[in-house]
Amino acid sequence: MVFADRRILLGVSGGIAAYKAAELARRLVSGGAKVKVVMTRSAQEFVTPLTFQVLTGEKVATTMFGPGSEPLEHVALGQEADAIVLAPATANLLGKMASGLGDDLLTTILLAANKPILVCPAMNCEMWANPAVQENAARLQDRGLTVLTPEAGELACGAVGYGRLPEVETILEALARLISPQDLAGRRILVTAGPTHEDLDPVRFLTNRSSGKQGYALAKVARRRGAQVYLISGPSNLPAPYGVERLMVRSAREMLDAVLARFSQTEALLMAAAVGDYHPTCCDEHKIKRGPVELTAHLTQNPDILRTLAPLKKKQVVVGFAAETRDLEAAARKKLQDKGLDLIVANEVNRVDSGFAVDTNEVTIIGKKKLLVHLPLLSKEEVADKVLDQVSALLPPVGKGKSA
Ligand code: C5P
Repeated sequence: MVFADRRILLGVSGGIAAYKAAELARRLVSGGAKVKVVMTRSAQEFVTPLTFQVLTGEKVATTMFGPGSEPLEHVALGQEADAIVLAPATANLLGKMASGLGDDLLTTILLAANKPILVCPAMNCEMWANPAVQENAARLQDRGLTVLTPEAGELACGAVGYGRLPEVETILEALARLISPQDLAGRRILVTAGPTHEDLDPVRFLTNRSSGKQGYALAKVARRRGAQVYLISGPSNLPAPYGVERLMVRSAREMLDAVLARFSQTEALLMAAAVGDYHPTCCDEHKIKRGPVELTAHLTQNPDILRTLAPLKKKQVVVGFAAETRDLEAAARKKLQDKGLDLIVANEVNRVDSGFAVDTNEVTIIGKKKLLVHLPLLSKEEVADKVLDQVSALLPPVGKGKSA
């Protein structure tokens, strides 16, 4: 759990999107974070401090002086936190931060803060497009703050354009990156995920029960740890993880072409996709009509992507996945050898809480030199972290051993 016991300072300034900050606070708290909220005076015109106090279980800080203020809060709050998130950040807040002003509790905290800051602007689209606001956002980015781009859509004022507060999921993921170790920074990681579809005719296909969840979790967590991630996904309804470049493919043969095009520029390949082993020998141009009681379909073997890559492998760390219904460890070890892998992640798929389509997984990581790590039932993101720990340990130092 990336937010467990992490201290997050949430600064809320006065835009209508302040109501969405309540949901952000709730999600952080439910993720295990200790959230302290600071509100500007105008933010309190939109949402009351009580809303955040109830959601976070903490008194909300609103003022530097007078009743309710604590001495030295303006210094302590930005230093005690692990990270600061400003959501929404108004044009006024961006301007004050860019100019180094500290005329209220929040801006003063930001001047004294020594922790990573995530800025989530939200405002009218013309305001966001204003050169002064753009310059202020760019200045903050240049100083090392992370500034998200507002999302496009219909705004509270009725206008349509860039100005919406980024989705809570996007804010959470950007924040998760700020508090995660960046041990994969500068690494190029290729991940495959999901099932493949092998067409029988224009409306029917052969597939499997993979949802893509484990592969998407690997892509998300690798990016969170600083990697540049390229995700090749079979058909899946999951949204592209924040900051990850994604290519959607359909069949095993399309996936092979996509992986081959990228493999040489990659330092690690995580082959989590459940690639179909066969495709119908001929795909009918027209829908097959209901006809005889028995119908025979001829299948041709698909290329094995990992085996095809084995002779092309240079310094890449290559990880395979083995979904098995019996003799898990022995079958996985055999695949490790046969497919020329550095690691294999094995899981039993005939359980209800592990394997296909669920959010949890119980896996064993097997490597060369007797590496054997049995993990308990974990969330797929936690499994991703453990797998990436092993990958990280096998990668040559940054700058060395890069493939062509
Ligand atoms: O042999 P099996 O399909 O069980 O091996 C699973 C591993 O091999 C997975 O990492 C999967 O992505 C990969 N694979 C592949 N090409 C195939 C089938 C599976 O690379 N045609």
